Amino acid sequence: MTYFRNNIERMSGYTPGEQPKDGIYIKLNTNENPYPPSSKVLNSIKEAVNDSLRLYPDPIVTQARIKIAGILGTKPERVMAGNGSDDLLSIIIRSFAGPGDKVVFPYPSYMLYKTLAELQDATACAADFTEDYSLPQDFIVKGAKVTFIANPNSPSGTLIPSNEISKIASKINGVLVIDEAYADFADDNCLHLVEKHDNILVLRTLSKSYSLAGIRLGFCIAQEPLIQGMMKVKDSYNVDRLSIAAVVATLDDQKSMKAHVEKIKSTRQYLTKSLEDMGFFVYPSQTNFVLARCMKGISAQKLYLALKSRKILVRYFNLRRLDDCLRITIGTKEEIDTLLKNLKELVGNKT
Ligand SMILES: Cc1ncc(COP(=O)(O)O)c(C=O)c1O
Repeated sequence: MTYFRNNIERMSGYTPGEQPKDGIYIKLNTNENPYPPSSKVLNSIKEAVNDSLRLYPDPIVTQARIKIAGILGTKPERVMAGNGSDDLLSIIIRSFAGPGDKVVFPYPSYMLYKTLAELQDATACAADFTEDYSLPQDFIVKGAKVTFIANPNSPSGTLIPSNEISKIASKINGVLVIDEAYADFADDNCLHLVEKHDNILVLRTLSKSYSLAGIRLGFCIAQEPLIQGMMKVKDSYNVDRLSIAAVVATLDDQKSMKAHVEKIKSTRQYLTKSLEDMGFFVYPSQTNFVLARCMKGISAQKLYLALKSRKILVRYFNLRRLDDCLRITIGTKEEIDTLLKNLKELVGNKT
């Protein structure tokens, strides 16, 4: 006997990366930023902690949308804010896909897309990336209501050029969601395609480049009719007062975000080269993490467990195409040096 809908009963649900309670780990498993948020953010949150917390926040997050539109060079009417980009992904799937509708995404990619399709009792159509993480020939599915592309992709870190994405948008009838959680670490992005295509939705987040994963603030950029329709679907107050205070302040401090992104990109280059020198294959990353494939004779799972026992947390996926890899978030240079020292000891021991 179950009270759940059949599709909910069948699905296993999304498993987020581990968040250890004791906090004594070098945490390189969930693509958080190793640097602190702007000091302006902390001050503006403190200021927002006052009597006005008894009042609901602005349901359409006007002030933050004006700010975001100004930074991105678009109109506030083309911006929608959410409780992290995961909230926007959920609004998107509820807006555009119902039972039996086709929902397309590449594999391996952000695992939440499949969970979202299952929640709607939609038909999840996963198309395998090619070996070098280009989009496969059969990626365009006729009649699909929603197509997701994480770009740059997680967990591979690889990027599809925006001109290719534009071609896909022209060929499909449904909406095309470009999940750009890592765009600030990349050389290209698809923001400019919103002007050209009425079916493109671009997602951004403050969780990665702005060091605000704990705040939960994401935004979606699309043409007005899509934003207006999605406003009907979202929770009335999906962004709280403290997050609104944080987003306005953080966007005012582009300098600190850009400085952190530059440091992360330089550590990414250092980590990539060091891993390659040890014999790993590292996929070309445009993000704040790298996907490293272990050399023959080395078990990625054992390596992950051995690192964990040494209080270093990286991400291991026991999944097809990923079970010989580790996904490593770019930490500070010191954290990465500690990781490399431990990896050298373990790989030397033929884990
Ligand atoms: C591709 C991708 N999209 C979305 C998210 C979720 O971002 P947010 O913290 O804004 O919900 C992540 C988080 O790791 C991600 O990797």
